[in-house]
Amino acid sequence: MSEEGKAFRAVDWRDGRVILLDQTRLPAEEVYLELSDWREVGAAIKTMQVRGAPAIGIAAAYGAALAALAADPAAEVARACEGLARARPTAVNLSWAVERMRALAEKTSAEELAPALLAEAGRIAAEQDAADRAIGELGAELLPDGCRVLTHCNAGGLATWSYGTALGVIKAAHARGKIAHVWVDETRPLLQGARLTAWELRREGVPMAVVCDNTAGHLMSRGEVDAVVTGADRIAANGDSANKIGTYTLAVLAAHQNLPLYIAAPLSTVDLDTADGSAIPIEERDPAEVTSCGGVDVAPPGAAARNFAFDVTPAGLISAIITERGVARPPYGPALRDQKEGVDT
Ligand code: MRU
Repeated sequence: MSEEGKAFRAVDWRDGRVILLDQTRLPAEEVYLELSDWREVGAAIKTMQVRGAPAIGIAAAYGAALAALAADPAAEVARACEGLARARPTAVNLSWAVERMRALAEKTSAEELAPALLAEAGRIAAEQDAADRAIGELGAELLPDGCRVLTHCNAGGLATWSYGTALGVIKAAHARGKIAHVWVDETRPLLQGARLTAWELRREGVPMAVVCDNTAGHLMSRGEVDAVVTGADRIAANGDSANKIGTYTLAVLAAHQNLPLYIAAPLSTVDLDTADGSAIPIEERDPAEVTSCGGVDVAPPGAAARNFAFDVTPAGLISAIITERGVARPPYGPALRDQKEGVDT
């Protein structure tokens, strides 16, 4: 692996502190935050210094472990779990990870709480890494030789822990020599594609080009895309999948062009308690993220704006859902239930 290609961790723990690679500063600077209070972890999730569904779950798990170092650990962990779960609404990995921490805390004595919660956070991170690698191998099988992939947002190691889901598929396929090119949607308003996915793919030496979000249809119509691969923030029981705003648009385009759209996500993103996409809460963020770009205003002062962070792609537009347990095909309900129950039991 080249110097540039050295592994990184989006979330880590060192000497009683949560370490986060500040994703708002990438790609200009690699700055690591050292956080000693769970409230700072909650704030970092809200401001997207750490982002991506699995990564915010892991960060919150370590946040709960931080709370266990307080003078009254049981009460502080309970407060932390409540506060951290509310930091962002759409990615179910956040509440899933916090629930794991809360359930363990409830059956652990105050003396044992800190080491027990730290170990559990480490397990969640390690399980995510194993899931990423399994998803990568399964997804790489689906891509043809010489594949030109289009991806949206960042579903890489920055969004999970170190390897990535959709980018894990691309990295694994690249390692097999199957990737001819990756089209990276810039992903307005916060440019996770241009800033983060391009940063990760360059470290891995994967051939790629950043394009504006409105370029996908043009590329597909010219026959320059073979597959679309994205991550997800929450997959409902019927396979409807919430992901970064613009994914639904890509799915409609891909269906029109007869191209496969694959969703790569761990089973912790599958929410069997949510029947379909209409019940997935969609985060709406500060309109200033839309009216500005890179700190520069791009709309007249006072212009109204709406900032929906996610949309829902109906299951019918998804060619396959790749999890660590296999490649689910429609109808997704039974396949996702079997995979999830296999993990949970
Ligand atoms: O708002 P973000 O940057 O947290 O949104 C992230 C995404 O939409 C990712 O595609 C998703 O979380 C999957 S990450 C493996």
